[in-house]
Order: sequence, then structure tokens, then C-alpha cells
Amino acid sequence: MIDRGNQDWRLMSRPALIFDAGTPRSSEFDDDYYSPADGLSESHYVYIEGGNVVERIKSLSSGETLTLLELGVGTGLNLALVLRAWSLHAPAGAQCHYIGVEKYPMSRAQLGEVNAQWETLADINDILLSRWPPPIPGCHRRPAMIEGFTADFWWGDATEVLSDLASYQNTWVDVWFLDGFSPTRNESMWSEAVMSQLKPLSHEGAVVTTFTAASHVRRALETAGFSVNKRPGFGKKRECMTASLVPAKDNDEEPISTAWDQAEHCPTPKTCLVIGAGLAGAHVARKLAERGCHVTLLEGKSLASGGSSQPQGVIYTRPSHKHGKLADFSLAAYSFSADHHQQLFATKRLTNGVDGEMTGYIQLTDEAKLGRLIDAFDDAESPVKIVTSEQASDIAGISLDRGGLYFPDSGWLNPAGVCKNLIEHPRITLIEGVGSANPRSLSPGMWAVENAEGQIIAIGDTVVVTTAWQATETPALDFLPLQPIRGQTTQLPSEGALRDLRCTVCHDGYTPPARNGQHCIGATYGLNDTTTEERAADHQQNLKQLAANVPSLSASLPDSQTAGQASHQSLEGIAAVRCATSDYLPIVGSVPDKNAFNQAFEGLRHDRKRCIPARQPNIEGLWVLTGLGSRGLTSAPLLSEALISMMFKQPPPLPRYLQQAVSPARFLRRDLIKGGS
Ligand SMILES: Cc1cc2nc3c(=O)[nH]c(=O)nc-3n(C[C@H](O)[C@H](O)[C@H](O)COP(=O)(O)OP(=O)(O)OC[C@H]3O[C@@H](n4cnc5c(N)ncnc54)[C@H](O)[C@@H]3O)c2cc1C
Ligand SMILES: C[S@@+](CC[C@H](N)C(=O)[O-])C[C@H]1O[C@@H](n2cnc3c(N)ncnc32)[C@H](O)[C@@H]1O
Repeated sequence: MIDRGNQDWRLMSRPALIFDAGTPRSSEFDDDYYSPADGLSESHYVYIEGGNVVERIKSLSSGETLTLLELGVGTGLNLALVLRAWSLHAPAGAQCHYIGVEKYPMSRAQLGEVNAQWETLADINDILLSRWPPPIPGCHRRPAMIEGFTADFWWGDATEVLSDLASYQNTWVDVWFLDGFSPTRNESMWSEAVMSQLKPLSHEGAVVTTFTAASHVRRALETAGFSVNKRPGFGKKRECMTASLVPAKDNDEEPISTAWDQAEHCPTPKTCLVIGAGLAGAHVARKLAERGCHVTLLEGKSLASGGSSQPQGVIYTRPSHKHGKLADFSLAAYSFSADHHQQLFATKRLTNGVDGEMTGYIQLTDEAKLGRLIDAFDDAESPVKIVTSEQASDIAGISLDRGGLYFPDSGWLNPAGVCKNLIEHPRITLIEGVGSANPRSLSPGMWAVENAEGQIIAIGDTVVVTTAWQATETPALDFLPLQPIRGQTTQLPSEGALRDLRCTVCHDGYTPPARNGQHCIGATYGLNDTTTEERAADHQQNLKQLAANVPSLSASLPDSQTAGQASHQSLEGIAAVRCATSDYLPIVGSVPDKNAFNQAFEGLRHDRKRCIPARQPNIEGLWVLTGLGSRGLTSAPLLSEALISMMFKQPPPLPRYLQQAVSPARFLRRDLIKGGS
């Protein structure tokens, strides 16, 4: 499994490229990325033909998925050819899931330069370039590269990534593309450690295709459980190989090891009840509907009326110079959210200036912290840039007296607009005004949601609870350490220097560019306060905070001393309640059955590392997504993606240590471990 412990944060290293008559060559490995004679034909022959990709695509039925895993994404040429094949042959309703692993991801600049030569793939390569992930280690999911096509880019070492995926103890892969550099120059890509992970991740009938015919690779594949065939190589190469998985005997399976985060019972949902229609509920509903589920979204009050009711919020993150679960999750979620929302604006599903604007944000930061981050985020395409006060002022359009961190891919959003857009889907029915709704299991595979009077409002096979801080009112979730935090924002007219603001400026609070002539500035923090009336004192606090952090805006602000008093009766804002957790990480996953969980993993009391061959005893059909804290716009897209991947047993968009870090069962496990004997 991937385990970054407390290591120093580093972005991925870029490859050093040299060009041999237009063909990229790695100076580190002293090898070509593909044949200098005709790379495109070679890739087509070895991978598309070798993997029988076109026939496999054509033979899919609606609802079926073809999963390919490539070791060595390189220039993305093989991926571009798969995308092309998918665009030409995909049957309606079928899905393709490509998983690409790469230790030295190219920069966008390198990718653009290298792929400019493929005129016939120009449209595909434009898509690839626009969705190409930043050099953050870990998984970058890119749904809808083209219709029905999801790509997961795993930036990391092949051995580490495969063992992480294998730790989920699920089989996904139909076709393997083994495309490291030549085995003599790139031993780590062809090692037994890599080969031994192929079978545990393979579907029945999986095939491997590769350009090499090296005898030790053949032997390693055979040892790993594949039957190998040689076929003529491309061009001057004598031979290459394909291999097919030898069917497993019944007793071949590895025992599950302490899979406390993985649901034991996980039937595929068809009709879902989602309780709570804020950002979490809307994202979940949308993803379920896109997977073919019929969704009833049940809301106590009205859509986006809880924490998600602010007129403007920012997609923010908090990078650190050390790896850690919180920092790693926060950056992974940020990167996913930025791509997700950029796509929505690019395809006009969201309207610029109304639903949000991806104009970036600056986090004002003290010098010492900036200094610590310089080495960690040293890359021209880093998601975060360290800027001086002069640079920050130029970017923001107003005078800033501190430098900070600049996040060019981010922006502000109107959460209600986002929610509204998400639920516009023929398979989603929103029912508002249901009051305090609660799930009740009727029988295995059948759930009801009841109102406070005990009347059944809706029935389905699955329930997802997305009721933020009120999730603990569901008895099965009463163990979650949730904390409500009141927050109030203040609306300011776009006047004076505020009018010049070009990107959001964050300090302890935030100030975005105007939406409909108003800036939503904020926000206050009131621990364990669930009241939502508007307070004059909170407006004062917001104004004071902004004036103290951005003095150049002081003249454009109402006097904070009098804000909310008679002369500033016009000040308005919204107070709402956030939902935090005790470890500041959100919560997503299957709901564990507390008693059965404690029994199954009782052994952890005595030895936290004990290997217990069990999955999580869970309440079948009950799932939860909550604890989004102050970052729902950042984390809801990735968390809902992770949830749906668990529900449908699809490949995960998170390394296992992060999936465990957000699992609801982590609190039960922690209690067991802390409790001791
Ligand atoms: C002042 C303020 C500023 C913020 N700024 C930002 C920001 O800049 N960036 C950012 O990313 N995040 C920000 N946030 C946080 C963000 O808004 C939250 O993380 C997000 O809204 C949480 O979404 P949610 O769907 O989990 O919860 P909510 O939006 O609270 O949704 C939960 C819904 O469940 C409903 N509900 C509860 N119980 C029941 C029940 N029993 N039956 C039926 N319905 C029920 C509620 O009515 C509510 O609509 C801010 C929050 C506040 C308060
Ligand atoms: C021959 S190139 C791949 C060409 C690629 N498939 C394409 O379509 O352009 C081999 C790739 O493997 C990557 N690689 C080498 N060692 C690796 C490792 N240990 N883990 C992951 N990727 C590795 C290299 O960085 C390089 O991009």
C-alpha cells in the first residue's frame, strides 16, 4: 500500500526528454517512448490489436464496463488510441475505465510538444492536454474524457500503485498494457513485484499485451498465472507477447486482511434515497443518476438551504510541506474539484459570473510558511505558486501588503447554483419540505424514509445520509464525532477598490470578486452554535477581519464599528451551520454495524496491527457522506465519486490510506485501539 507517513512533500519529477528525429527519448532510461520509425502504427499494433481492444469495445452491452490498465502512460499515445477507438465503436450505455500509472509524468508543455506530430489525433490530444493532471502524487480521476470514458491517472511508482490497488482486494482489469522502457533499462517496471499484482487485479479472461518478448518477462508472467503467446514484433522487432489469465481454481483466493473500511455487504443500488439536499446530497444524487440509478432526494427544508446556502464560496485547499492524511486529501480533492468545475463552465452547464468563476485565489501567508513550501511545490505547473506581495497585488488587482499562495485553477462558486445544476437529471426527483426525515430498514434490500410522524415518504433499495451535522440523528450514525459550527457572511456592494478585485483573496476569511454586484465576505466561526439568525456583531467581525488583512480595502468598507447599527441597517448576510469532524477529515462510506464491527475487529484492542481476515460488517444499503467542514466545494465532488465507486465496486479514485482516512469506521477502529485490553 502507498504510505507517505510524514515524508517531505514533493511534486512528481518530470522526465528529461531528448528528441531523436521527432521521437521523444528518455535521457534517464536511454530509451525511446515508441518506435522512431512509426510510433503510431507500433502502438496500434502492439496495444490496440494485441489487446483486441476494438472487438472488446464492440462486444460490450449497455451498462458493461471495459477496464484497461496501462503501466507507463508516457506521452499518452496508447491512451489517445484507446480514446479514438472508443469514440468510433462504443456501444450506447457502455463504459470504458482506463487506469494509467506513471512515475515521471510529462508536463503539459512537454505533452503538447511531443504530441503535436499526430495530426490524426489532434482532437483527442487537445482533450488529453486540457484534462492532464498536475504533478501531485496519487490518483487523478478524470470522468467523461469523452462520453462514457473515465481515466484514472495514478502518478507514482508502478509497484507501489499496483500494490495499493490490489489492497482493495477487488478485480477490475480486462486488458493490461505493459509499456515500460526496455526491460534491461527499466527493471522496476518488469519486476516480479509488479507482475505478481497483475492476477489479483484481473477479471476473468483478462489479457496482457506488451512490445517485449524478453524471456524473464515471459517467465514472470507465467509464474504470475498467465499463459503467454508470442506473435511477430512490430517493424524490426522479431517478437512481442500477449498473455491470457489462466482461470483460477476455487481455492486460489487470497484471504482478506483487516479490511475494516470495506463493506462486507454491497449490493448494487438501483433505487436510491438521498436524505439532505446540500452540496453533498446533490453531488451524490447526480453521480447515482449517471450510473443509472433512480434517485429520490429528500430535503427537510429546500435545496441548498443549510450550510450550502452562502451566495459565494471558494474552492480552497491547504498545502503542507509534509505529507499527512489531511494535507494529501485536501490537495487531491482540490485538484479534482478544480477539473470538475472547469469542465462544467467549459461546457456551459454552469454560467460564468452567476454560478461562479474560475479566476483563482490567493491565500495571504506569512513568510516562514511560504519558505517551507518552496521546495515542495517547485514546478512550472504546480497547482500552487508562491507569490510576493507585488505579484499577488498584480494578480488580484488590488494592493496586498503580504505575499501568499496563488491557486490559479480555483475559483468561487455559488453553491445553490451548483446544486441546482447537479440535480437537473431525468432520474432525480427532489422532494422538499419533508421536515426531519429518517431512514428505516423494511427488509433486506428495502429501505423507507419516514418523516417525523413516522409516515413513509419514499422507498428504495439504498439510502445515503447527507444531512451534515444532523447525520447523528440517524441512530446508526450516532457514533460519528460531528461538530456544528455556525458561520455568517456579509454582503458588500462592489464599490471603490473592491470593484477592482480580479480573484478571491483569502486570509482568515475570504473576499471573492463580485457576483451580481455584491461580494460575499466572511466568515465567522461559532463552535457548537446551530442558530442561524443574522447578527450585527458578526457583520462587524467580518468587516474588521477584512480591514485588518487587506488594509487597501478599508476605505471601501462600511465602518466596522457601526456596521449593523442604524447607519448600516442595509448590511445583509447569511448565517448557516457547517459540519466538522474531530480529525477535520470528512466522512464517506458504508455505515458499519457497530456491534458486529466491534466483535469482528475485537483483536485490534490487543494488537493494532493484527491481521484479521474480515471485511467491515456493515448495515446493508446504508451509506453516509458528511463532515465537509469549511470545504464542501472542494471535497464534495471527489467524495461523491469515491462513494459511488465503493457502491458500484469500481476502481477507487483514492489511494487506500486516504480512503481509510475518510471512512466512517475509522472512529470505531480508533476506539477499539485506544480502548486496549
Ligand atoms: C458561512 C459559511 C461559509 C462557507 N464558505 C465556504 C467556502 O468558501 N468554501 C467551501 O468549500 N465551503 C464553504 N463553506 C462550507 C460549505 O458550505 C459546506 O461544507 C457544505 O455546504 C456542506 O454541504 P452538505 O451538503 O454536507 O451540508 P448542508 O448544505 O448543510 O446540507 C444538509 C442538508 O440536509 C438537510 N437536512 C438535515 N437533516 C435532515 C433530515 N433529517 N431530513 C431531511 N433533510 C435534512 C438540511 O436542511 C440541509 O439542506 C461555508 C459554510 C458556511 C456556513
Ligand atoms: C515506453 S514509455 C511509455 C510510452 C507510453 N505508453 C506512450 O503511449 O507514450 C515507458 C514509461 O514508463 C514510465 N516508467 C518507468 N519506470 C516506471 C515505474 N517504476 N513506475 C511507473 N512508471 C514508470 C516512464 O516514465 C515512461 O513514461
